Amino acid sequence: MLDLSKFQANGRETCFHGRHIGAQIVAGLDGSNWRLKDYESRGGYQALKKILQGGDGAAPMTPEQVIAEVKNSGLRGRGGAGFPTGLKWSFMPRQFPGQKYLVCNSDEGEPGTCKDRDILAYNPHIVIEGMIIAAHAMGITVGYNYIHGEIFGLYERFEDALDEARAAGYLGANILGSAHSFQLHAFHGFGAYICGEETALLESLEGKKGQPRFKPPFPASYGLYGKPTTINNTETFAAVPWLIRNGGQAYLECGKPNNGGTKLFSMVGDVERPGNYEVPMGTPFSKLLERAGGVRGGRGLKAVIPGGSSAPVLPGAVMMDTTMDYDAIAKAGSMLGSGAVIVMDETRCMVKSLLRLSYFYQHESCGQCTPCREGTGWLWRMVDRIEHGKGRMEDIDLLNSVADNIQGRTICALGDAAAMPVRAMIKHFRAEFVHHIEHKRCLVGPGAALTPTLSQRERENIHG
Ligand SMILES: Cc1cc2nc3c(=O)[nH]c(=O)nc-3n(C[C@H](O)[C@H](O)[C@H](O)COP(=O)(O)O)c2cc1C
Ligand code: SF4
Repeated sequence: MLDLSKFQANGRETCFHGRHIGAQIVAGLDGSNWRLKDYESRGGYQALKKILQGGDGAAPMTPEQVIAEVKNSGLRGRGGAGFPTGLKWSFMPRQFPGQKYLVCNSDEGEPGTCKDRDILAYNPHIVIEGMIIAAHAMGITVGYNYIHGEIFGLYERFEDALDEARAAGYLGANILGSAHSFQLHAFHGFGAYICGEETALLESLEGKKGQPRFKPPFPASYGLYGKPTTINNTETFAAVPWLIRNGGQAYLECGKPNNGGTKLFSMVGDVERPGNYEVPMGTPFSKLLERAGGVRGGRGLKAVIPGGSSAPVLPGAVMMDTTMDYDAIAKAGSMLGSGAVIVMDETRCMVKSLLRLSYFYQHESCGQCTPCREGTGWLWRMVDRIEHGKGRMEDIDLLNSVADNIQGRTICALGDAAAMPVRAMIKHFRAEFVHHIEHKRCLVGPGAALTPTLSQRERENIHG
């Protein structure tokens, strides 16, 4: 065990695991200090200097050493699947003779998730530095940051940050006098959720319709313009400078085995203080909830979707016994996903909540594969009729059956994302579905009555 005392925070808020691990990505941010000079004053670009120039008597780091450090750190991709980052980087064919690409996924469209946009707004240089280090590790000379189309102001800010980095010699040819050259560009999408899926993102970046590709081949061998490509989430790149500066082992020990470092959680829904909170991996959910001010209005905790809307819902009591890391949440029956924690209090109707989720997925399906294109619509229409007092008892099993026939049978994971919430809602809150069907009214909520859940405009969008 390392001595982690130098990373201790003096605030009360990160006092978990009996230690006091400070923030790594949001440390020192005040909402306005995003410029290069501010980032440098917080130790920014020191990790890049460490690998390219060495220092403190140490030699510059080789690409293999950088990848080994990232592997040791236990950093797992923050985009949803939690894939080990160092392992992903090692898949990039080092000796490939042609162009290779690095792509940052800032498409962030998962309902509930709002962390990447804050990183881009308040600390864009940390993403740029992370990408330059990743490019060095994989021998890549060209990169793109694909930014969600509905946050155009942040795309412009990222362009400004790129200009600053270029002018300071951190980007371009022979960075800081080394042999490493890297050109990084910003690109904005147009707001489609599916363009967050990595291969749909690549299609969109190529100027085509954003629809997922069949895998394999994976982007490491056939990516942007058919060339080897590595794609990581914004927060994944943002984690890299700290772990290179302080070492992979220190990063690992800030979290839990196999779940290194800190993580930004978007605390949303029925909490007193919604927002992004950076805490060590493995923080008890109860502590995270406390930091967000607890359940709004002092109400009881009914349920939590712990990893963005694609993750299965869990009862509140289960979450209160769980820690916030990939392995613990998986053991509890859900996924850490993107780290959006949707908190639902005791007045929330699960049928109505599922209706909102199902509406989203049928709307965002790209339509390429039949089980997803047709099935998401069937799910939504069945939940809609249960919510509005027209459900039949057999609809509950039918919902499960349709979800079963979507899951695992589609080109991309959007199909699974649409199916899993349905199965989990029925598994944990079946009684509410039964009550809706039998009594044609809601079991919970103010007035416990059936309420219209979609606006007229939303209905017109669907029915044409
Ligand atoms: C429907 C769908 C939407 C996704 N949206 C995002 C997204 O907005 N941001 C993101 O980083 N990953 C998203 N992903 C995951 C990406 O495909 C990919 O796994 C991720 O960008 C890899 O980065 P990581 O290894 O750093 O997590 C999505 C996946 C699916 C199936
Ligand atoms: S699963 Fe859905 S979103 Fe994904 S490719 Fe198939 S139709 Fe498109």
